[in-house]
Amino acid sequence: MSKNAEALARDIRNRAGNAPIAVGLILGSGLGHLADTVDGVAIPYSDLPGFPHAGVSGHNPNLVIGELEGVRVAVFGGRAHYYESGRADAMRLPLEVLAALGAGTMLATNAAGSMRPDMPTGSIMNLTDHINFAGANPLIGEPTDRRFVPMKDCYDPDIRAALAAAATTAEVEMHEGIYAWYSGPSFETIAEIKALRILGADAVGMSTVPEVILARFLGLKAAAISCITNMAAGMSDEQISHSHTKEMAPLGAAKLERVLRAWLQKQVQNT
Ligand code: HPA
Repeated sequence: MSKNAEALARDIRNRAGNAPIAVGLILGSGLGHLADTVDGVAIPYSDLPGFPHAGVSGHNPNLVIGELEGVRVAVFGGRAHYYESGRADAMRLPLEVLAALGAGTMLATNAAGSMRPDMPTGSIMNLTDHINFAGANPLIGEPTDRRFVPMKDCYDPDIRAALAAAATTAEVEMHEGIYAWYSGPSFETIAEIKALRILGADAVGMSTVPEVILARFLGLKAAAISCITNMAAGMSDEQISHSHTKEMAPLGAAKLERVLRAWLQKQVQNT
């Protein structure tokens, strides 16, 4: 853990209390609403040196520490993307801070394009695995042997199953599938989407994979859920744009919120 992360974690504890965090939630484009429903302390990223500026519209750049359904959470209302800086490790410090605050789990959410006709706009998808189509890696430059992180089952099978059970409880249909990371910021070509389908991907987006690699590096269990905001390029006549993503995100976000709340409630029941 870097000294910087330890210092930030101390500062955050001074502001928001010492109780350890159980779960870190990273909110994707258009999914920031959940942060507003947390009973806790909101700390702007600008107060946390080294945190990303979260310059993408549709993101809410606060770290909110508090309780959601009785579970102590750290909600990251915005993330840095590889395409903003060319740095795949842009989320390393926030995730180091999450680990320093005692969290055992990181759950990332994102907006994504669907490559499956049975998974239309407004669906949600529990990630089972990913394809690093961007080819970048947040651990490039990490000098220790800890960089050789195993990625088998990086989407924790027990958490995936618990999320699926929570979806059933919440009466929400949640798909499962493989997420492909595309660097962005331009969207994919039709040929790239054809290639990704052949490779076995079900959804495509511009985030999450670097965070999952970093989470595993830091010893956090990882899980992720996509909100499908559009059919991927060439899959329908739907327009693809960032404003369309933000417009459509609330459709899946409402389902996502119900699943997350049911999942957190069960954690309280099981303790
Ligand atoms: N491609 C990449 N990222 C995305 C998409 C998409 O179609 N939709 C939302 N984020």
